[in-house]
Amino acid sequence: MKRRMVELLVFAFLMGAFIVPQQGCNQVVSEYTEIEPVAQHFNGMQYVAMSECTSCHAEIVESHMQTSHFRTSSISDFADQLQLFEPGANELVLADQSMAKFVIEDDQAYQLWYERGAINPLTKDSMQITIGSGHRGQSFLFWKGNALYQQQGSVSGDGDQWINSPGYPSRIEPHRPIMPRCLECHATYAEQASLVSARPSNTYLSRDILFGMQCQVCHGEAAEHVSYHRKNPEELAPKYILKYSDLSQKQRIDACALCHSGSRPNKWDTEKRIFVPSFSYQVGDDLDAFLEPDKLEARQGAVADIHANQVNLLMSSKCFQQSEGMDCATCHDPHSFERANYRKFSAKCISCHSSPKHSEATLTATDANFEDCASCHMPFNESKAMQLELDVNELTPVRIRNHLIAIYKNESTN
Ligand code: HEC
Ligand code: HEC
Ligand code: HEC
Ligand code: HEC
Ligand code: HEC
Ligand code: HEC
Ligand code: HEC
Repeated sequence: MKRRMVELLVFAFLMGAFIVPQQGCNQVVSEYTEIEPVAQHFNGMQYVAMSECTSCHAEIVESHMQTSHFRTSSISDFADQLQLFEPGANELVLADQSMAKFVIEDDQAYQLWYERGAINPLTKDSMQITIGSGHRGQSFLFWKGNALYQQQGSVSGDGDQWINSPGYPSRIEPHRPIMPRCLECHATYAEQASLVSARPSNTYLSRDILFGMQCQVCHGEAAEHVSYHRKNPEELAPKYILKYSDLSQKQRIDACALCHSGSRPNKWDTEKRIFVPSFSYQVGDDLDAFLEPDKLEARQGAVADIHANQVNLLMSSKCFQQSEGMDCATCHDPHSFERANYRKFSAKCISCHSSPKHSEATLTATDANFEDCASCHMPFNESKAMQLELDVNELTPVRIRNHLIAIYKNESTN
């Protein structure tokens, strides 16, 4: 996966560097090179390669590339996971004795699915695209023409084993279509075939998806910013770029809520009589105009119960309700890989709670780790919506950090 990413970046960099500047008759020749957009949003916004940011924001680009956000989707490359294709490890048997084999042929990985006892496979499809950085699991997609589908076989997070994709019954299922909303949360941009149809669809105009979360998902339009600062290197104040400091608290939270507020479906546009297409929302917009609320999660204090919901839980916390302007960036640096950096997170808690009042019993509890405030106040909960079939017919819930910051008696699980 890594090599492919580097290749893509190098390619994007070369594209940027070798574009011949277009010069009119009277124009002075300058060092300036035009920016080559890598894709265009349906609203006209151009995506520039992330490598275009490196000359001025090298540290952020480098650190962002280590994050789960950046690694959350890519063209598949199993170079570091070849053990998954070795005999003994490359089969998955479901409850009804149907089974899958995972093979690599000519550098392309495939899943072959067999009905119980069958010799010839029912289906054989590739695993061209990987979704998931690999922390909790990875799922694979393939193209059939311009339609995108999910493979039934996924890889578990730590187990490094093949599993039935979460949410699938333990028997062969028809391939599930990959709707744009899935890519809206796991990629930068995909060009949908149907912006005006009454139903979202899994067909795309182009197979070129901008994989991983790149800067513009959170920062929006940036081409003019890049060209302005290239031409005006003495300018130190940011120009032609959205500023988070100008956004309201709701707008800042919406920027994360696009993907972290539960499985909210696209809103129905009553005027145009279509579902608002995925990728319509841009940072600064009111997210509620694009997505319906998550009905299950709207209940106050509901326990994290789904693939991806932190927003409502945080907003139900006293920390949020009784402080000014808290947002996700109060604790998270959006450009850094920070998982398990307990001291860094606890320092954020302590910045507001310099001397929390803990009882003697709490302070002397066995296993108590006061360097990790979240271990007691943001415990892991078992997700009911995200469960992995690590063994046939046995679902293991994924454990998700609870963003309802509170006092949980008897909790010091980690
Ligand atoms: C030629 C230099 C240059 C390039 C290339 C460049 N920037 Fe900037 N950018 C700046 C300068 C100067 C600032 C203001 C100082 C700072 O915050 O670092 C800035 C600030 C920013 C800010 C902060 C805005 C705020 O809230 O204050 C963001 C976000 C940003 N740039 C995004 C990008 C992205 C995304 C790219 C690549 C697509 C990019 N920049 C490429 C020069 C550049
Ligand atoms: C476009 C969708 C999207 C947006 C916008 C988004 N995230 Fe995420 N976020 C994800 C996905 C998908 C993952 C899981 C990535 C993976 O592991 O494959 C994730 C993971 C995370 C993680 C866990 C990282 C880890 O390594 O364990 C944190 C923390 C996080 N996001 C915070 C934020 C914050 C803060 C914001 C807003 C500034 C934000 N996210 C905006 C999609 C998004
Ligand atoms: C998950 C969303 C997200 C992504 C992806 C993201 N940023 Fe940011 N960025 C933010 C947020 C939120 C802030 C404001 C942070 C704050 O309020 O402290 C920010 C702030 C900045 C700033 C100004 C403050 C600083 O830290 O210097 C720059 C410059 C910047 N981002 C550049 C980039 C570049 C370049 C990329 C791509 C390599 C990128 N960002 C990707 C969310 C994101
Ligand atoms: C609303 C946004 C959203 C949608 C839609 C969404 N995901 Fe996710 N997904 C996330 C977030 C956020 C995470 C990180 C885990 C968490 O916070 O629950 C994640 C985690 C994952 C993971 C585990 C990644 C890892 O390495 O830990 C996989 C695999 C995954 N999603 C696949 C998919 C697929 C396939 C689809 C579409 C069929 C999809 N997701 C739809 C936001 C979304
Ligand atoms: C921006 C400031 C701020 C940050 C950061 C913050 N809190 Fe709070 N927190 C508050 C405020 C304000 C309250 C409500 C008044 C009080 O109880 O102190 C509160 C309340 C609490 C409570 C009492 C909850 C209850 O239900 O009685 C706990 C426990 C707590 N915070 C733990 C944490 C932990 C752990 C972190 C870090 C993960 C954290 N806080 C980060 C401001 C903050
Ligand atoms: C008061 C501090 C605080 C705030 C505010 C906060 N988080 Fe977190 N978040 C944490 C801590 C602590 C962790 C645990 C980190 C770890 O285990 O590595 C965490 C973990 C996460 C994870 C990984 C969850 C998992 O189960 O792996 C995601 C995703 C995330 N936060 C998203 C968000 C989003 C989105 C927001 C804004 C709605 C937000 N956070 C606001 C403290 C905070
Ligand atoms: C071993 C579990 C545990 C750890 C670790 C822990 N707490 Fe607590 N915390 C509790 C319990 C339980 C209470 C309720 C009071 C009591 O019984 O001690 C509490 C109460 C609180 C309160 C509410 C009381 C007050 O002072 O307003 C805050 C705030 C708080 N903790 C913050 C923190 C911070 C910050 C950290 C990390 C430095 C931390 N806690 C670490 C278990 C823990």
